[in-house]
Amino acid sequence: MNMPNMKEARVRTKDKHKIIKDDYIVLNKNIGVGKKYNVITYGCQMNVHDSENIKAILEDMGYSYVDSIDEADLIVVNTCAIRENAHNKVSGMLGRIKHLKQTKKDLITIFCGCMAQEEGYVKNLVAKYRWIDIIVGTHNFHKIPIYLDNLYKTKLNQVEVYSIEGDVYENIPVKRDSKYKAWVNIMYGCDKFCSYCIVPYTRGKQRSRDYHDILKEVNDLVNQGYLEVTLLGQNVNAYGKDLDIDYDMANLLEDVAKTNIKRVRFITSHPWDFTDKMIDVIAKYDNIMPYIHLPLQSGSNKVLKDMNRRYTKEEYTTLFYKIKSKVKNVAISTDIIVGFPTESEEDFLETLNLVKELKYDLAYTFIFSKREATRAYDMKDDTSLIEKKKRLARLNEVVNENAYLNNLAYLDKVIDVLIEDVSDKDGYLMGYSDTMKLVNVKADLSYLGKIVKVRITSIKTWSLDGEVVEC
Ligand code: 5AD
Ligand code: SF4
Repeated sequence: MNMPNMKEARVRTKDKHKIIKDDYIVLNKNIGVGKKYNVITYGCQMNVHDSENIKAILEDMGYSYVDSIDEADLIVVNTCAIRENAHNKVSGMLGRIKHLKQTKKDLITIFCGCMAQEEGYVKNLVAKYRWIDIIVGTHNFHKIPIYLDNLYKTKLNQVEVYSIEGDVYENIPVKRDSKYKAWVNIMYGCDKFCSYCIVPYTRGKQRSRDYHDILKEVNDLVNQGYLEVTLLGQNVNAYGKDLDIDYDMANLLEDVAKTNIKRVRFITSHPWDFTDKMIDVIAKYDNIMPYIHLPLQSGSNKVLKDMNRRYTKEEYTTLFYKIKSKVKNVAISTDIIVGFPTESEEDFLETLNLVKELKYDLAYTFIFSKREATRAYDMKDDTSLIEKKKRLARLNEVVNENAYLNNLAYLDKVIDVLIEDVSDKDGYLMGYSDTMKLVNVKADLSYLGKIVKVRITSIKTWSLDGEVVEC
């Protein structure tokens, strides 16, 4: 049994990570034959992609996918730790699974993801949720076959969580959710240690993949007919900085753009590492999508300093306008936290005014949530939750207005949309524009998996409606 340890998770040495290509082994390929599995995923795209790996790993062991947890023999809960409310959602799900387990004694539960890396949470799980069979962390989920094997053989719960800096594991199988667009990890972990954020503790140090492996993956995806890749990492702009090579995110973006992939996206960018060279590459290649997620977090220099964000509001604004002026028709979205412990009404007003000025296409807004082991955990916080909720509502009003006004500019325009699924709206399909606008398109199923020209006929705050004009 290996339990998480937040103190160890914080350690950063000068040691280089290893790139390990032969660690994924399935000794017993029949363990899951005749059994069904379901994976429940919470959180960011990184988790969504990890779940794609976990699905493939389970299928490698003979398990077959089933849509509902009620029919599953094995349930994986892949969790997120970024805010406290993620805990509440997971607790609700664990309650449902416990209930299922009462009638299905052989049901196996695997708990993984970022919450599995949280020391306090896992201590509680081990003590009070003994019916959870396997707890596995973010660094070693590719070893699920070994833990399942041990579980069947010994009937003992497996708790294997490592609070380490981590390595890069290649050759883990993947079962992608989409046939048209794919997530491609380019780096793992984060060394920024923003004072509110638990990610550097749950995901380990920043470690880039070898770019040859990334480019091979993209080329393989092109050959399989994929149209879009999203390069994934906690801080993609820092790609390569942890390797002893003269090759950075701008080089990688350019090399990915030069493959035959139709669309390239990347998330998430930290303003600190966003270079002019990167902006030039984004502007130069038509297949690098003009959409950039650029987390602001706060518009107050005092709060940004307390958050350990490493930029001022002026530096952020300069970067924002540089991107706007160089990348044609670019859409920019952001993340903002309100109610950080040291945020006063004046600080909040600075954020509000900056958001009014920058008119983001989209902003994900959050109330600050205290996370175990982070520096902000112990900061004095005088603002009530009611006041924080009011600030969030005031901010969202501006965010929504901006989103609507940005969308208004699309009315009657013809834009490219990659049609990826049927829409919730009857008779419509759905997809995303180059600028990441969600578009409902009146079209029949023959358009699925195609990039089509769509005339926008009506707009809403969070989506556009349109019709196909040509294929
Ligand atoms: N409380 C609230 N929001 C947070 N985020 C990260 N940590 C916290 C926290 N402790 C937000 C940031 C980040 C996004 C992914 O989640 O805005 O950019
Ligand atoms: Fe968290 Fe900051 Fe790293 Fe983003 S850059 S994952 S907010 S520590």
